[in-house]
Amino acid sequence: MGYDGIYAAGIEEGGHPLNDDVTTMLLTPRIAETVKIPVVTVGGIADGRTLAAALALGAQGVMMATRFVATQECEVHDNIKQEIIRRQEYETTLICKSIGLQGRAIKNKIVEEVLAVEQRAAAWTTYSLISGQRVKDAWEFGRLTMLL
Ligand SMILES: Cc1cc2nc3c(=O)[nH]c(=O)nc-3n(C[C@H](O)[C@H](O)[C@H](O)COP(=O)(O)O)c2cc1C
Repeated sequence: MGYDGIYAAGIEEGGHPLNDDVTTMLLTPRIAETVKIPVVTVGGIADGRTLAAALALGAQGVMMATRFVATQECEVHDNIKQEIIRRQEYETTLICKSIGLQGRAIKNKIVEEVLAVEQRAAAWTTYSLISGQRVKDAWEFGRLTMLL
């Protein structure tokens, strides 16, 4: 197609990760072994160690977003930079996957509410699909409906 390179963007990224949930660590080598053009790793890259990891996985470079938001040169409000610095690795979550608009958000009351609404909606519509009958059929009789 004439592309010069390709981004391998894993689920770790900020913004809007793809719905497929594939991690940066799996995606980079998978793409690197598949294409002949340069691969740029994206998602969770923040320092020399993660850059080195991406190179070791087969990438030619990295793209960073969140890390650059938390720099002196970035023009966003300092409150946002402080939030990025203050928060721990478990303090973000992914919301709106259920409506095909997955996005990473810092956990707070509103985000918890969004997740609860998504969960309630999912519960009503998915209970009949996850009754456990198919798992039982697979383990007892080898009926692998996931292959259908
Ligand atoms: C707050 C924020 C919002 C973003 N919004 C978008 C977006 O709307 N569309 C897009 O293509 N990328 C967006 N991005 C950029 C990508 O998701 C980017 O590839 C990703 O953040 C890189 O991963 P990293 O943040 O772990 O470095 C956004 C990034 C951040 C940090």
